[in-house]
Amino acid sequence: MTIVPTQASPATQVAHANAPISDLDPYSDEALIEPWAMYQELQGLGLAVWLTRYQMFALTRYDSVIRALKDASAFSSASGVMMNDEMNQVLRGNTLCSDGADHQRSPRIIGKPLSPTALKSLQEEITSKAERLVERLVSKGTFCAITELATFLPMDIVGTAVGLPQDGRERMLVWAAQMFNCFGPLNDRARGAFPVLREMMHYASSQAVRGKLKPGSWADAILDAVDRGEVDQAVCPMMMIDYVGPSLDTTIYAIGNGVWLFAKHPEEWQKVRESPSRIPAAINEIVRMEAPVQSFSRLLTRDYDMEEITLPARSRAIVCYGAANRDERKFPDPHRFDVTRGSAEHMAFGWGPHMCVGQHLAKLEMNAIFCALAARVERFHIHHAGRCSGCESTVSGLLAGDHGHQGAGHEPFTPTTGVLGPAWRRRKRGW
Ligand code: HEM
Repeated sequence: MTIVPTQASPATQVAHANAPISDLDPYSDEALIEPWAMYQELQGLGLAVWLTRYQMFALTRYDSVIRALKDASAFSSASGVMMNDEMNQVLRGNTLCSDGADHQRSPRIIGKPLSPTALKSLQEEITSKAERLVERLVSKGTFCAITELATFLPMDIVGTAVGLPQDGRERMLVWAAQMFNCFGPLNDRARGAFPVLREMMHYASSQAVRGKLKPGSWADAILDAVDRGEVDQAVCPMMMIDYVGPSLDTTIYAIGNGVWLFAKHPEEWQKVRESPSRIPAAINEIVRMEAPVQSFSRLLTRDYDMEEITLPARSRAIVCYGAANRDERKFPDPHRFDVTRGSAEHMAFGWGPHMCVGQHLAKLEMNAIFCALAARVERFHIHHAGRCSGCESTVSGLLAGDHGHQGAGHEPFTPTTGVLGPAWRRRKRGW
């Protein structure tokens, strides 16, 4: 597989018709760190705004994002959902990047072990692993809430259940992170990540094969579907990547964001401790506030009117889940973290036909972690304890505890759009 970064293709260079325009850059380091003011400005300009820098529309209002996500016949995923054409080529055949009948086949197969019913068999294991982990960390008093807390369950559960050979599994987190770095516009972050992505693709096509996979595993079940003629052998590696790519950083960030939000808002943590039945609602509020995936995109198949604005056929529209989640038109006082708000209609897992197929697993893991914490941690304290070696090569977001207190917290875990990179990490930590 060869990945040759080039400039934007003519497909993205379409007239912006009568849309408001803006030269704001949602993918600058500054915006990645703190996108909220920029989102508000874009929302103020209209339902769709033409970004001059990227020659794409930005959909940032709740109303425009939900329209796009629901209408897959106009807002297509088949030409890819990333913000650069190279990645859209590379991920062709992947579940995210398909429409219609091709798309329906895929979630049916990969979604099977991820349904609430199927996940019941993992519930006990996840709960007891979360309890043992939290017990151990709390007894230390200070811990890194990303590498020691948030990373554990997603890596352990997905790593084992997918059934990939042990050899190479330690690279899963690096691959997942770099894959997200390739999702944005073709900038240095994306270019730097392409070689790692090549390594991941090579692994998927050479190791994810019969004989090397754990029998009965999620990946093995994809090969069974090939044998039954339900899926083409050629798309198998892509389907394996469906399990590894989107399942790790997303959930890790969501757990890390949760710890950080509770550290900043101890009164909300208190509410959760008093009534742990609030945890599912709190999880919705965490991912509403800090959507781990900030945006993907869609290609217009035809001219589409959003009230007075026409989005022309062949133009690309960025759908900003993170912005929709903070749209005051939908969520009053949107920047306030409130576990009793009732934020179930957030967009953090998407909406419509491509809504996240792994959300039940993510919620199960988050629920287990926050239940275990609620029973043992009175309050989280943000503690800038320096660099944690584990954070360096994998996900960013060092969190460390405060001596004499239970629990821990450190830097705000600003969401990733898939273009989150080392520069961001350095800035956040003040290196
Ligand atoms: C907190 C954790 C997670 C978040 C925030 C998240 C977010 C998302 C979002 C926003 C989409 C929609 C993409 C679109 O509109 O085009 C999506 C789709 C997807 N997610 Fe997740 N995800 C999470 C966890 C997971 C996990 C644990 C898995 C797998 C085990 C997973 C697998 C997928 C797959 C395969 C799709 C594509 C679905 C389709 O196109 O039909 N995700 N996710």
